[in-house]
Parts: sequence; C-alpha cells; structure tokens
Amino acid sequence: MNLIFFGPPGAGKGSYASRISVRYGIPHISTGDLFRKEIKAQTELGKLADSYISKGRLVPDQITVDMLKKRIAESDCKKGFILDGFPRTIPQAETLEKSGIKIDKVFNFVVTNEKIIERLGGRRTCSKCGAIYHLKNLPPKVEGICDKCGGKLFVRDDEKPETIKQRLEVYKNQTEPLIGFYRKRKMIVDVDANPEVKAIIPVIEKIIDSM
Ligand code: AP5
Repeated sequence: MNLIFFGPPGAGKGSYASRISVRYGIPHISTGDLFRKEIKAQTELGKLADSYISKGRLVPDQITVDMLKKRIAESDCKKGFILDGFPRTIPQAETLEKSGIKIDKVFNFVVTNEKIIERLGGRRTCSKCGAIYHLKNLPPKVEGICDKCGGKLFVRDDEKPETIKQRLEVYKNQTEPLIGFYRKRKMIVDVDANPEVKAIIPVIEKIIDSM
C-alpha cells in the first residue's frame, strides 16, 4: 500500500501520517524530515538543503528525487509507505510515475489559510523522535518536553512569519497544480482537514480499509 499525503504547509500531513504509519505498519517518509536530519548532521546535502529551506523555497528536484529513491529502496518499504511532502512539483510526480512505483491513493488535505497560520504558529517538534505538538491544540503534558521520549521540543527554523508566507506562495505556484495531475489519473481523494486530528484519522482509515 503506497500512499501520498498531500496538502499545504500545516495541513497536518505529518500528524496524520505518523498515526496511520503505526496503525498499518508502513513507514512514514517525510522529505522535510529527511532534509532536517541532514541539516542537523551538517552533511553537504544538509548544508545545501538548508540554503533553500531557510528561505521557504523548494530544494531542487534532482536532489530531492535522489534522496527519496534511496529511502524507498530500503527494506522497510517493501510492504508500502506513506509519502509526506513528496511529490511537490510536476517534474517530481512525473519522475515518480516513470520509476514504476505504483501509488494507490493520494490524500489531499484541504484546510483554510487561517487554520494553516494558527497551526504553524503554535507547532512544537520533538528534537529526538520527531513527534509533533501544538501549544493550543495538542500541548505536551510537560511544557517543552516530549510525552513519548522525553526529548526537548523546538520551533522549526522555517516557522518565521515571512518564511511561512513564502512557503504558502511556493505551495500555490509549484505544488497545488499536482491536484489536477492526480485528479486526471483518478487517484486523489479530498479530505476536509479543518477538524481536529482525532476526527480526521477515522476518515483516513475508512478510505484505506475500503481500498
Ligand atoms: P515539510 O517538512 O514537508 O513541510 P510542509 O509540507 O511545509 O509541511 P509541514 O511539516 O509544515 O506541515 P504538515 O502538513 O506536516 O503539518 P503538521 O502535521 O506538522 O518541508 C519543509 C521544507 O523542506 C519545504 O519548505 C522545502 O523547502 C523542503 N522540502 C520538503 N519536501 C520537498 C520536496 N519534495 N521538494 C522540494 N523541497 C522539499 O501540523 C502542523 C501543526 O498543526 C502541528 O502543531 C499540529 O499539532 C497541528 N495540527 C495538525 N493537524 C491538526 C488538526 N487537524 N487540528 C488541529 N491541529 C492540527
């Protein structure tokens, strides 16, 4: 079962994918997380990716595709995977299609701009396990500390208001056209992502179980 979780920044892709990954036993692959790991380790790829991500721009297609192909080739992806944040451009989607990897469903999470701003403004991420919290919607039990692993929570570098604005613009110009790409292929299903996380998970599960 190969799935794509699609939507604008802050739609909740990472929050839903982490839960669905546990429920169905397939890995959650976030290209954003893969880049952040490289940035933390200060690799050459990380330094290059950071020069784009910190400005709210997309990392060039070839670099992203190469990184993703390497990850998908790992043994834990044999049963399937959830792609979060990939593809993000038409050339990325075309490359994925040409690679022969079959995608079973694209979940398009639809959310208002007001919700996006509110969600990204209050997000906190665990520096150790990557768990996602929100100061208002999903606060940790102890402020600044991850409930799951005790790791420290941090604010992502690309969450400054001007970077969020740029990311939303990039989404509209470069990523949103993919909705038409996948609609043409009858692969996409729209999910209203305005309600709380706990209301959205059963909607996703119902769609998966009917596949
Ligand atoms: P990436 O990490 O993929 O960021 P993004 O797509 O902008 O999405 P986010 O992670 O910000 O949001 P999300 O939808 O996962 O929401 P989340 O679950 O965290 O990419 C970062 C950067 O890397 C890009 O800008 C680009 O530069 C680069 N990059 C990555 N992939 C690339 C690619 N393919 N090509 C080129 N460059 C690439 O939720 C957000 C907050 O809201 C959380 O606090 C959460 O608790 C809360 N929340 C979520 N859902 C709900 C809900 N339903 N109700 C209430 N609160 C909610």
